[in-house]
Amino acid sequence: MTRIAIYPGSFDPVTRGHEDIIRRSTRLADRVIVAVAENIGKAPLFTIDERLAFLRTATADIPDVTVQAFDGLLADLARSVSASVVVRGLRAVSDFEYEFQMALMNRQLHADLETVFLVPGLELTFLSSSLVKEVARFGGDVTPFVHPEVRAALQAKFSA
Ligand code: PNS
Repeated sequence: MTRIAIYPGSFDPVTRGHEDIIRRSTRLADRVIVAVAENIGKAPLFTIDERLAFLRTATADIPDVTVQAFDGLLADLARSVSASVVVRGLRAVSDFEYEFQMALMNRQLHADLETVFLVPGLELTFLSSSLVKEVARFGGDVTPFVHPEVRAALQAKFSA
């Protein structure tokens, strides 16, 4: 049986922390679908096409990973692609409450879908897309935190 995992998120933009979780996910599943939410509550900095393109570039060297957009419920996407696992990254205790709620809601909506939490490398635990955007907005160096293509796009966005 082919085990398919979904790694969902906003990825606005993808960081080295996300990349680390994607790599770790491929050890648990035969195929990992990185699912990029089209509509997120907060206004995204990058369009859905930009977020998809960054992810495709950043994961180009990782086998068995595909990237796609999704709209609507994650549980419905999981059914439509026959995924049995949802992967989420856990960085700190502060992530836990939201993640716990989301995992239980997804179980309510799709009883056979299991959520697994992966912990990124220690040096990446402080990273978030929001922090990276803030550093870039004020001219800080985000080189260690994102793929060079993402860094260039951040610089272009904030120097305009
Ligand atoms: O990177 P994020 O913003 O923490 O990702 C959140 C995301 C996109 C995974 C979550 O909001 C989601 O799954 N949205 C799809 C709508 C849905 O299924 N909601 C019910 C589950 S709580």
